Amino acid sequence: MAYEFEKRRAFGALYRITHWVFAASCLLLTITGYYIYEPWFTTMLEKGTADFTVANMRFLHFLAGYFFTGAVICRFYLWFFGNRQERITDALPVTKRNLGNFWGAILNYLYIRFHTPRLGHNALAGTTYLLTFLISMVMIVSGFYMLFPESATWQVWGTNLFASQATSRFVHFILMYYYIFFAMVHIYIAVWNDVMFGEGLVSAIISGSKFLHVKRPKAD
Ligand code: HEM
Repeated sequence: MAYEFEKRRAFGALYRITHWVFAASCLLLTITGYYIYEPWFTTMLEKGTADFTVANMRFLHFLAGYFFTGAVICRFYLWFFGNRQERITDALPVTKRNLGNFWGAILNYLYIRFHTPRLGHNALAGTTYLLTFLISMVMIVSGFYMLFPESATWQVWGTNLFASQATSRFVHFILMYYYIFFAMVHIYIAVWNDVMFGEGLVSAIISGSKFLHVKRPKAD
C-alpha cells in the first residue's frame, strides 16, 4: 500500500521571507564578523594596494545587521499576528499539549519513540527558537551599542546590559559561535525529519506547504 498525503498550508509568505533573510544575514554576519575579529588576509601586504577590505567587510556587516534586525522584528510580530503555526503559543511548552510534545520530541530525536509530526513546529524546536530570538536581541543591542556609542538610547541599553564597550564586543563575539552551532544542528534536524517522516519539511520553508500522512503503509 502506498502512502496517502494531504497537502496542508503551514507557513505564510512573511514567515518564509523572514526565515531566509535571517539565514542569509546570519551567514554574512558570521563571515564578515569573523573577518572584523581576525582579518585573515591583509591586502596591503599581499598586493601592495590599499583596497580597504576591513572597511568593506564592516560595511557589509552593518548592512546585514539591519536586515537581521528587520527579520527579528518580523519574527516577533508573527509570534502574535501570524497564522496558528507561527504563533508563540503553538510551539512553547506552556500548555499541557505542548509539554507532552516537548518530551515526545526529545524521545523522538533519541530514537526511543517516534512521534507523529505536527503541521507547525514541535515544542522543542519552538523553545530553541525563543532562545535564538533572545540571543539575537543581545546581538542587536551589543551591535548597535558598538556602532552608535554616542547615541543616548544605545548607551542606556548598552551600559545597563554590558557596562563597557569592551564587554559588549566580547559578548558579541562569543555569541557568534551560538549561530554556527545552531545552524549545524538546525539543518541536520530539518533534513533528518524530512528523511524520517517524508512530509516535505525542508520544501515547506520555500513553498509554505507540508504533506501530512493521511494513511501510512502497514508493515508486513
Ligand atoms: C548573527 C548576528 C551577528 C554575528 C554572528 C556578528 C558577529 C560579529 C563578530 C564576530 C564581530 C567581531 C567582534 C570582535 O572583533 O571581537 C562583530 C563586530 C561588530 N558587529 Fe556584529 N554580529 C552580528 C550581528 C550584528 C548586528 C545586528 C549589528 C548591528 C548593526 C552588529 C554590529 C557590529 C559592530 C558595530 C561590530 C564592531 C565592528 C568594529 O569594531 O569594527 N553585529 N560582529
